[in-house]
Amino acid sequence: IFAKYAAMPIEEVAKDPQALKMGGRLFASNCSVCHGSDAKGAYGFPNLTDADWRWGGEPETIKATIMGGRHAVMPAWVDVIKEQGVSDVAAYVLTNLDGRKLPESIKADPVNGQKLFAANCAVCHGPEGKGTPAMGAPNLTHPAAFIYGSSFAQLQQTIRHGRQGVMPAQEQLQGNDKVHLLAAYVYSLSHGDKQADAE
Ligand code: HEC
Ligand code: HEC
Repeated sequence: IFAKYAAMPIEEVAKDPQALKMGGRLFASNCSVCHGSDAKGAYGFPNLTDADWRWGGEPETIKATIMGGRHAVMPAWVDVIKEQGVSDVAAYVLTNLDGRKLPESIKADPVNGQKLFAANCAVCHGPEGKGTPAMGAPNLTHPAAFIYGSSFAQLQQTIRHGRQGVMPAQEQLQGNDKVHLLAAYVYSLSHGDKQADAE
């Protein structure tokens, strides 16, 4: 039965209620410990039900993520741009990219932050901060999808010390056919007509 689904395109498996039921069970026992039983994520673990993808939301990309795992590398910046630079670039991310207001008590210069961003961050996050899925560099204009928090202090912490999120590879643990079902299940959470819920 696993092999039958593995021969079908992921989009089609994602429309098959029986496949989604099986995928949902695999998810509950192997993935929910980190991503949550509703797959909506938690601190450090991305939401898999929304339209924001760190590594890409195409069916085959989702499968590649689950098969091979992912290791994100956001470098630490405090030695390079110093504490004031960390504050300035955090202020730029918070105000210009995210369109929020900087708390009044904070002394930081988003104009200098913009220069620092262009020189140090755009290479991975893109000139407009919209992210680069090939390296797992997230879109910085959608703070609701930040996994390490989007307050000024949390942004400073991320930029100061860097982050290394690890998605563990499932190829050895689950094998291709189960990962194919898992990919279809995950794909259905953001693209499906929720047939699994209706079951
Ligand atoms: C070498 C590529 C690279 C560079 C350069 C880089 N980043 Fe990142 N950044 C990443 C990656 C990859 C992640 C995801 C880390 C993770 O998921 O653990 C990330 C994550 C982040 C996050 C956290 C988003 C979240 O989900 O919570 C913020 C904020 C951020 N970067 C800002 C910056 C700023 C500001 C700079 C420049 C000072 C910068 N980054 C430079 C690759 C980069
Ligand atoms: C030990 C915790 C852990 C487990 C177990 C785990 N994941 Fe993940 N997963 C992560 C982390 C952390 C990331 C984000 C990596 C990064 O920072 O880019 C992630 C990322 C992902 C992504 C990419 C999301 C995106 O935005 O591109 C997918 C898809 C995914 N996981 C699916 C699964 C599935 C399916 C399972 C079960 C087979 C699973 N994960 C099990 C921790 C886990």
